[in-house]
Amino acid sequence: MWNYHNPSKIIFKTGFLDNLKSLALIPKKKYCIFTYPDKIFKDQVKKITDVLGEPLLIVDEISPNPDYKNLEVIAKKYQNISSENKQIICLGGGSVIDSAKFIAFGLGDFNYTVDFLEKKNEYVKKNHPDLISIPTTAGTGSELTSWATIWDSANQKKYSLAHECLYSKMSIFDSNLMLTLPKKITLEPGLDAMSHAFESIWNINSNPLSNTYAIKAIKIIMEFLPQVLKEPTNIKYREMLTMGSMYAGLAFSNTKTAISHNISYPITLKHGVPHGIACSFTLPTVLKSVIGIDKVCDDNFRTLFGQDLEQGPKILKDFFKSIDISIDPKSYIGSSNEWNLIVSEAFEGERGKNFIGNLQSLNKAQDFMGL
Ligand SMILES: [Fe+2]
Repeated sequence: MWNYHNPSKIIFKTGFLDNLKSLALIPKKKYCIFTYPDKIFKDQVKKITDVLGEPLLIVDEISPNPDYKNLEVIAKKYQNISSENKQIICLGGGSVIDSAKFIAFGLGDFNYTVDFLEKKNEYVKKNHPDLISIPTTAGTGSELTSWATIWDSANQKKYSLAHECLYSKMSIFDSNLMLTLPKKITLEPGLDAMSHAFESIWNINSNPLSNTYAIKAIKIIMEFLPQVLKEPTNIKYREMLTMGSMYAGLAFSNTKTAISHNISYPITLKHGVPHGIACSFTLPTVLKSVIGIDKVCDDNFRTLFGQDLEQGPKILKDFFKSIDISIDPKSYIGSSNEWNLIVSEAFEGERGKNFIGNLQSLNKAQDFMGL
């Protein structure tokens, strides 16, 4: 038996924010907006407020990785409007959507959400605001998941805030918002989405539907991410990459991530490697390590890379070479001792336990890949 569940209403329309009829699809309720402070976002916010009226609050001081320090400040502001607010519109990347999830979860009560994360308190709040997510990058997937990644950098900790109430009521994909993204903000989220798709396949929670979405995502991202990097203003390529990210989101929303993500967190925390790079450079090696471990997983990779499964890691290795991303841990971490510790500890975490493979085959795969 298996089941698949994602309650978010998906709207895929290039030019959504430029179209009054489309904008009218957003429910008219008392609302606030979470976004970034840059002018380009102010312009997009104006399109929303022109149709929906003035928001109760605009939160635009979002940090790149949602962190306790920053969230405490936002929570204080939000508490003033919490009882009135019925809807949060998230216009931005994963950090915006995850910050909004943190605030929505505790209705602006910072300590309540922190206690839920750290002391595993029971969830008792009700009447949380609806989330309307409008991603401005193709990669986070947060618009389609029921969790947020929260960082306590002061204590070198990372938490996953997960609850059914954190699904977006509506996820709106407008590729026009991505047309002017710089290379870095195209590449890193694109690789993150690709990692979400791979991680949902070599995952104990995978099912036929999540696998179908993941295969579609990987095919699209591997074809169109390099194209978008070459021609960033090509809207057709941007639309395809947006779609690839959407499929990846649908895939991992039901499986969560696995070993590559668990390996990535200390690399991001201690070495500042951006999430999209940290969670993806291990993909060719992890792929090599899972060959022959599970029949369904093998079949999925045959669909992607052909009958000879050994070709998969090579194709993926070449893909990373073509976009100038090293798959060698030494490029990110100085000592092999630290690397070995990170990998072995990654198997112990929640995400690591989702992985169908094992440490022994991963070590062998590293040798095979010449790492
Ligand atoms: Fe990720």
